[in-house]
Amino acid sequence: MNQHSLLAPTLGTPLSTAAVKVMLLGAGELGKEVIIALQRFGVEVIAVDRYANAPGAQVAHRAHVINMADARELRALIDAERPSIVVPEIEAIATDVLIEIERLGVARVIPSARAAHLTMNREGIRRLAAETLKLPTSQYRFASSLSELRAATQEIGLPCIVKPVMSSSGKGQSRVDHAAQIDAAWDCASAGGRVALGRVIVESLIDFDYEITLLTVRSIGRDGSIETHFCEPIGHVQMAGDYVESWQPHPMPALALAKAQRYAKAVTDDLGGTGIFGVELFVRQDDVWFSEVSPRPHDTGMVTMATQWQSEFELHARAVLGLPVDTTLRNAGASAVIYGGCDAQALRFDGVGAALAVAGTDIRLFGKPESFVKRRMGVALARANTAEAAREIAKSCATAISPIPA
Ligand SMILES: Nc1ncnc2c1ncn2[C@@H]1O[C@H](COP(=O)(O)OP(=O)(O)OP(=O)(O)O)[C@@H](O)[C@H]1O
Ligand SMILES: [Mg+2]
Repeated sequence: MNQHSLLAPTLGTPLSTAAVKVMLLGAGELGKEVIIALQRFGVEVIAVDRYANAPGAQVAHRAHVINMADARELRALIDAERPSIVVPEIEAIATDVLIEIERLGVARVIPSARAAHLTMNREGIRRLAAETLKLPTSQYRFASSLSELRAATQEIGLPCIVKPVMSSSGKGQSRVDHAAQIDAAWDCASAGGRVALGRVIVESLIDFDYEITLLTVRSIGRDGSIETHFCEPIGHVQMAGDYVESWQPHPMPALALAKAQRYAKAVTDDLGGTGIFGVELFVRQDDVWFSEVSPRPHDTGMVTMATQWQSEFELHARAVLGLPVDTTLRNAGASAVIYGGCDAQALRFDGVGAALAVAGTDIRLFGKPESFVKRRMGVALARANTAEAAREIAKSCATAISPIPA
């Protein structure tokens, strides 16, 4: 892509011939916030998801329900809507369509079709990071059958982690401590992978002190060239591969932070384009390992709605539009997930008034039309003088809110 096509478009008027049209592929809670940020710039936004009334669909100009992993359906919708910019919000997309529309100049893909393509499969991004860019990662092998998995775990050693090459939010992922657990790990990966590829990555277990998300923004600078900006590190706690709380800033030794930024720059430079990236890193003292990267806002980054002058969603919207960004931290803060806690068609939320009566708190309720016990239905946010204090406030705010089946 040439530099010119990345330059800031003239902004326009939605629903007119002067509209700047952006299509979000995936309209969950992260997409919803990106859409709100784009709406504030007068952008015409089209939300796409696999089910009706997804969170982002409720705040977009129009919404469509399609299977985004189906190349024909996806291409037909892009041809019908003719957006100038396509923003993937999920991984499960027919990325060959994105590569084609970028190549033909039909629309820009955020951050780049290559980024969407490489990061949807753990093999693509791992080989890029470890083999091409030579970044430190866990040791790894790939396996396409149970016998290959057995051999791979022998080479890597136990304990190790087995993950389907295509999956997110910890789905299909298991830790293997004893050889007797290998069969179960294969079955778990086969059941939990997004596409029945029958291929897994086996990773050595990194004994980290903590893990961070380093939000990294590639945006257009004053002279029209691309600049890289970093947010303050975000600390987080994962349970079964799903984030439950996050905070910012997470303190780090200067050397570890410098390494983290260097690795994040190397990966995002290679993936290219403009937009925000969630770079996931493991840290032990001054050592840093690259884990994975999302070429889009990151769930642990919801905390930035309470901590930064421009949240990760506003940063993404600006980078998408070719506008300048400011990643400065405003204050320390934290986020805590509000789960559905029950299976229900619709929820009522009790206790919101009491939760928000505590100074420095805020919430987002995503408006998802269906609740499951472990479905993320909202997030509690808190700001405080320290991230530690904010964590306590965010957790009690989340606990004070009771979802009840309607
Ligand atoms: N090699 C490893 N060593 C130690 N911990 C790991 C390793 N791989 C994964 N984990 C733990 O499991 C979590 C989820 O792993 P990973 O990010 O690879 O999965 P995911 O399905 O892509 O999750 P998400 O979509 O939520 O980012 C990590 O954040 C980390 O806590
Ligand atoms: Mg992850």
